Amino acid sequence: MRWQGVIHKYRHFLPFTEDMRVISLNEGDTPLIPANRLAEILAPNSGLKLFLKYEGLNPTGSFKDRGMTAAITQAAHEGSKTVICASTGNTAASAAAYAARAGLRCLVLVPEGKIALGKLAASLAYGAEVISIEGSFDDALDMVREIVERQPIALVNSINPWRLEGQKTGAFEIVDQLEGNAPDWHCLPVGNAGNITAYWMGYKQYGKGLPQILGGQAAGSAPIVLGKAVEKPETIATAIRIGNPARWRQALEALDESGGIITAVSDEKILESWRLLARIEGVFVEPASATGLAALKQQIEQGEIDPRGKTAVCILTGHGLKDPGTAVNQASPPINLPAEIGALEAYLES
Ligand code: F0G
Repeated sequence: MRWQGVIHKYRHFLPFTEDMRVISLNEGDTPLIPANRLAEILAPNSGLKLFLKYEGLNPTGSFKDRGMTAAITQAAHEGSKTVICASTGNTAASAAAYAARAGLRCLVLVPEGKIALGKLAASLAYGAEVISIEGSFDDALDMVREIVERQPIALVNSINPWRLEGQKTGAFEIVDQLEGNAPDWHCLPVGNAGNITAYWMGYKQYGKGLPQILGGQAAGSAPIVLGKAVEKPETIATAIRIGNPARWRQALEALDESGGIITAVSDEKILESWRLLARIEGVFVEPASATGLAALKQQIEQGEIDPRGKTAVCILTGHGLKDPGTAVNQASPPINLPAEIGALEAYLES
């Protein structure tokens, strides 16, 4: 069988040696879906070429698997027996899965009551020890940073450089899928700012052109946009409910070097884009994942981006089934009918 997964696929661009035991779930190789109907809504008759990088199709349903294969491969190689992370949910699920595969103990710290059901379910199913913290993601991150100073535990948050190594393969893949070209705009949600940092590293290393980076933060959790930490971050997009991103400085570098921008989008705008993705293109994501598209839409509407003839890629970071609660709450309830054909016909004609 041909080896799969991002470490095998892009080994020449990664600092792994041939003899290392690779912990992989065949992550990566996610589709780049053309979104022509959506492009017409965002910028009619402009020739905008819009693509959706559907990272929710990774093995645990989010983009985190690219970086996690690298972080867990390295942790196992170094002989770690236990890994830990703070998480809004997706990192937790990914760490739990890869740790299970490597035979490592996995602890995940999550903000109490603020983790979407699919992420909690998966983390528990993979056998992680899920610890709910009476505080925010930022509090949990402070705790895990400190515990690894005191205990022989490997930290697998994106402050771990190996996470970025794996994650940057997303940029290689986009360039490959666009037949050797980088897009003009690369749009993505920004939370702890690991993904934006990794993509920029990847585009630079691949050497086949550079996009401008457009980051979106939820308006209630927009420290980078505001230029100061947010004490009590809030947003319906719980994945990016982060007030003090660990990779803040690198995110600013990516924006600066690429001539990019970061913008705040309201929860209403995030949900609007979330709905458009599902209803116009048939792509179901979790709310945070629509933030890159919401940012692009807003910038075009405000005249900040000229879409004419441009290529834009939106990173859809997590699958819609991660957050079934929000999906159900945002929709009208199902229609109840008696099990009779007449009732169905009457409904159709109503
Ligand atoms: N989208 C989703 C679905 C996420 O889960 C995250 C981050 C982001 C975007 C933002 O990426 O942090 O690299 O800027 N989730 C982390 C977690 C914080 O714990 O799962 P980032």
